[in-house]
Amino acid sequence: MSDFIRPNVTTSIPGEKSRSIVEMDNDYGITATKVFPVAIKKGKGIVLEDEDGNVFYDFTSGVGVCNTGHCHPHVVEAIKNQTEQLMHFAGTDYYYKSQSRLMERMAKKAPGTNKKRVFFTNSGTESVEAAIKLSRYYSKRPQFLSFIGAFHGRTMGSLSLTASRAVHKEGFQPTMPGVEHVPYAYCYRCPYNLAYPSCNMECVKQIENWYLKKVLSPYDVAAFFVEPIQGEGGYIVPPKEFLPMIKEMCEKYGILYVSDEIQAGFGRTGEFFACENWNIVPDIITCAKGMGSGLPIGCMIADEKLDYPHPGCHSNTFGGNPVCCESSYATLDVIENENLMVNAKNLGQYMNDALHDIQKRHPIIGDVRGLGLMQAIEIVKDPKTKEIDPVSRDQICDEMLQLGMITIDCGPSSIRFIPPLVINKEEMAIALEIIEKAVTKVENH
Ligand SMILES: Cc1ncc(COP(=O)(O)O)c(C=O)c1O
Repeated sequence: MSDFIRPNVTTSIPGEKSRSIVEMDNDYGITATKVFPVAIKKGKGIVLEDEDGNVFYDFTSGVGVCNTGHCHPHVVEAIKNQTEQLMHFAGTDYYYKSQSRLMERMAKKAPGTNKKRVFFTNSGTESVEAAIKLSRYYSKRPQFLSFIGAFHGRTMGSLSLTASRAVHKEGFQPTMPGVEHVPYAYCYRCPYNLAYPSCNMECVKQIENWYLKKVLSPYDVAAFFVEPIQGEGGYIVPPKEFLPMIKEMCEKYGILYVSDEIQAGFGRTGEFFACENWNIVPDIITCAKGMGSGLPIGCMIADEKLDYPHPGCHSNTFGGNPVCCESSYATLDVIENENLMVNAKNLGQYMNDALHDIQKRHPIIGDVRGLGLMQAIEIVKDPKTKEIDPVSRDQICDEMLQLGMITIDCGPSSIRFIPPLVINKEEMAIALEIIEKAVTKVENH
């Protein structure tokens, strides 16, 4: 595949070769969350090619993972080199350089002046589980706060914090006890029917003056889990005062602030950690997805004061796998050396402006929101009533696929656009054309 190509779909989807793979998967896989019947064979940069030779732009980054683009040569080389030397040696029990130097680099990248410590995991949900355990152990408090609309994972602890779609929990109750959910600052659909900024941040005041006075005592709360931008819940960017006010409230009551950077982190919003957009210094940060450019690695970064007092409290087998660590180290090199955060900021703004222009021509787009290369549109039946329109949303995603752009939904009626951060302006312009074409077709249907 060359460096710059246009999307090109020449078969029906799935094409013949893809179909047999899709059928095999459908026959033998446990039902999960499949979006489209495309079987991808290879990828380079933002471009994916399926088994039938159809070429797509990836506007999902493999759901927030391939921030450096598919198969970045520097990352591939690092993985190859490490594979020839050492593929595994229980990093929580023993020592090796690829793990130690990544720990140091991640600890030093985290915001704030206090020293940080790092625990490596294999996925986002495991990073969140690590944060649940550490914050409960340190604070000796039993309860947790998280937001309605939040997504923190699907294992029992993180699932308890998740509240973005009821189907995630349906049939799995009871989850971990001790979690209360409070409304997020979703200004397009304000839970209090107010308008920013005249609302005076009523949503934060309600948490402190209502929930923490009536529902649970703040002195029982170990940690508040916060997505700086709600991801799966709908790509909801809070107003600028929101996160600093939540942090201030946490400090007042000794509640640990956990910034879940699993989707918004690793440069995607234009800052390395999304919380840095609001100058927040979290007590704990959880990472995964974009950390390894595709290899499974995550981490929890915690203020040193929270560290366990003795060995044995928490550990795992595969955390800090040397190949994954090298992939992650090389990912950091690429983000820094290729100025990907600057690109995310600039092209993110370009995309946001262009989406607002498209919105003016297409009332089916109720809202445009995002930060950096974490952008979304919310599809509505009528911009005045704001009635959600998941059917049209799904049709737009299907149309974009036929036109050669792979996307993924979020929230009840939104589409997220999260291309690899290596995308250039020419590719972005083509993607924007596809978006408008798809919206136009569905709107005129
Ligand atoms: C903010 C956030 N936290 C946690 C997770 C869970 O990550 P994983 O799917 O790797 O377990 C996700 C996944 O989408 C996420 O977006």
